[in-house]
Parts: sequence; structure tokens; C-alpha cells
Amino acid sequence: MLHTNLDVNNQGHLTFAGFDTVSLCEKYGTPLMLLDEERVRANLRIYLTEMKKAFGEGSFPCFASKSLSFTDIYRIVKEEGAGIDIVSPGELYTAAHAGFPLEKSFFHGNNKTDEDIAYALSEGIGYFVVDNEEELYEIERQSAEKNHVQNILIRLSPGVDPHTHEKITTGQVDSKFGIAIETGQAIEFVGKALSCKHIKLMGYHCHVGSQSFDSKCFMDAAAIMLSFIREVLDKYGAETEILNLGGGFGVRYVDSDPHIDIPFNIRLLAENIKACCADLKILMPKIIMEPGRSIVADAGLTLYTCGSVKTITGYKSYVSIDGGMADNPRYALYSSAYTVLNASKADKPADLVATIAGRCCESGDLIQEGVSIARPERGDKIAVLVTGAYNYSMASNYNRLPRPPIVSLYKGTDRVVVKRESFADLVKNDL
Ligand code: LLP
Repeated sequence: MLHTNLDVNNQGHLTFAGFDTVSLCEKYGTPLMLLDEERVRANLRIYLTEMKKAFGEGSFPCFASKSLSFTDIYRIVKEEGAGIDIVSPGELYTAAHAGFPLEKSFFHGNNKTDEDIAYALSEGIGYFVVDNEEELYEIERQSAEKNHVQNILIRLSPGVDPHTHEKITTGQVDSKFGIAIETGQAIEFVGKALSCKHIKLMGYHCHVGSQSFDSKCFMDAAAIMLSFIREVLDKYGAETEILNLGGGFGVRYVDSDPHIDIPFNIRLLAENIKACCADLKILMPKIIMEPGRSIVADAGLTLYTCGSVKTITGYKSYVSIDGGMADNPRYALYSSAYTVLNASKADKPADLVATIAGRCCESGDLIQEGVSIARPERGDKIAVLVTGAYNYSMASNYNRLPRPPIVSLYKGTDRVVVKRESFADLVKNDL
């Protein structure tokens, strides 16, 4: 199976984290999102342990909560001792609601409003990752009013191509994110930040892109960022405490995706960074990484019920399910690859090639095209694997479809951690 938390039991049903997925569908209904909590914790521990070993004390991962944000996930991250990356006041609110210690949080985004800044300051945000000049001066103004000195990082664009989908690359010079090093604007910006009395510039952040299996792009970005740190030291005499390298490594969605050895890649990155620092004669900053996908993706699975199998003679077959782009827009947006299985007949040969179609009133509402699957019949449960990242967090109520629940599986117990939305929830803000 694609990941070690998947198996088939003697009833021929797909199991996930040791649970019979078909029985869970009977208990909770579909669409249903499952979260293997042990896997989330294990994935976090890989980064926690390996980063500490490779980079030393003070270097740690921050969970990129844009990949999956609900109250309980922040509790898990807090228990494991990682930090968080948040990108909106809503994520901040959810983290605060969960009792997450916000001194270990980094507030991202290319347009933080005055209200966002005020709210984050009132909650005691650890770091703003400052994206532009307007934001810098607003943080300075509000911090001065409170007689407070706020820690920040500056978001830079190192100009590195991560070889991933165009819509999820972020580190190139022409980007809505960050300040370009190449154009000389970044070094000038540092001068402005250093002259703010109520801002403490702790370091720099970059993020080259998501779902990257190429650790070389992290090294390239790190090398550019470290040279920049040397330039700052030469020009302003300012040391840098933190270098935040952004998101984590890629994840296997389908069998053809490569395996990635994260501990090995972290060690390799650390060796490169140490060598670079020695060459540049600078102290090694504390390193932060912000994995999202590689923490939660393989800890998630979505189950649907098949409604129909339609074969258009001479064309192809469609398997229609009771969810779709409203709970998982990733195929519609990025043509993302997914593995789809008939969870009710997981021991049967994949004898049908089909397009898996959602229930939205839109032809582009597909979950995957051309998948081989054991021929389903109405009522069979259809599993889409590796849906823990950027599925629930990107879900919508398109076509007034209620969002599915999330059921956590942990130590043999299944527990609802996010309730299924009701029809009443759909109209609760309508006046
Ligand atoms: N840090 C920053 C500043 C980011 O922008 C991101 C992702 C991450 C960390 C986490 O990256 P990860 O470890 O998850 O690769 N919706 C898209 C992904 C967009 C990612 C945006 N930023 C998708 O479904 O593939």
C-alpha cells in the first residue's frame, strides 16, 4: 500500500490506522474525513528530532497550519512541542482558542490589515513575517502605541525555482510574496526595519514552493539567504538570529511519486548550511522550517459513497460520489494526482478505468481522471488517499454542500474532532 497506515482486512475492506473504513462510514456517514493522529505526531517528531540533531538547540519546525486548521490540531502540535505558521486572523483565533502558546507562532501573509496587526499584537504573536513596507510601518506604529518591541522576520524572495506546480511556487523574483534580493530592494528594506525603534529584526524568511522532492532547491535558497545575511552584517553590522526556510518536503500521493528520506535530507541541508556559514564567516542562525503537507497529508483519508457508475459507450466511465470539489478542490485547481480505491472491495482487482466525479453542478468537478478501480456499485465506499493537507482547509460550501466532519483515530479510539456541518449551519448567517 502507498503508506504504512493503510491495509486490507479479511472482509476485503480498506483499513486506515487499524480501523475498518467501511464501518466508520456506517457510523459517521459520508463524505467523511479521517485523521490518523499517531501519524501526525510521528511526522512532527521526525522534523523535531532531526532538526534539533542537525541544526542544534533552538532550531525547530513550525506546523504550517494553512494545510489543516481546526482547534484540536493546534493542541496536538502544542503537545509535541513544535511552533506554528499562521496566515490569517482566523488561523490565529483558532490557535489561541486551542490554547496554543503564541510566542512560537509566525504570522505570514502579503496583506495583513491594520485590524489583523492589532489583533495579533493583542494576542502576543511571536513573530510577524513582514512582507512589505506598509506593514512594517504599521507594526512599528501600533507597537509604539503599546510601548512594545515586536519581533519580526522579513520575507525575502531568493529567486529559486522549486520545480513544482506553477500556482504553488512562491520564491521567484516576480512574486506577490516578499521582497526581492536580486533587485537590491531587500538590503534597503533591512535598513528601514533596523531604524524602527519598536521592531526587533530577528532574521529572514523564504519559501520557494510546495510539494517539492528536490532538496537542492532548499540548499540553493539557503545559500542565497546566507549570503544575504553576510551582506547585512557588512552593511549594517547586524547579526541574524533566525533563518526560516519555509515549507517542508513533498508527499507521496500516488505510487509513481518518489520516496523521500526526510531525516537524510535535513542532515544534508544542515551540512550545506554549516559549510556555507563557514565560507561566509558568519555564525549559523537558528533554522526554522514550516512543513504542512508532510505533517498531515498521509494522516488524512476521505471516504465517499458511490451513487452511480455511468459508462458512455465508446467513451469512458464516470463514478459519481457524494462529495467532490467542495471538500477537495485540488484536482480542479492543480490537476493534483490522487490514489482512489474502492474501500468496500479493496481485495478485488482494479477492473474498471474511470473518472471519479463529484456532485457539484460543474463539469470540472472531478477528483481524478483515468483511475483503475475495482468496479463499484451504488453504496460502495470510495476512498481517496492522502487528503490530510489542503483538503479540509480549502473546502467550501459550493452548491450549499455542508462540509464533512473530521474523525480522529488515535490509540484505538475514533472521535469526532470537527462536526459535520448541518443545513442549519448553512443558513446561520443569512438574515
Ligand atoms: N510556509 C509558507 C510561507 C508557505 O507559503 C507554505 C505553503 C508552507 C510553509 C507549507 O508548505 P508545505 O510544507 O505544506 O509544502 N494549496 C496548495 C498548497 C499551497 C501552499 C502554500 N504555501 C496545495 O493544495 O497543494
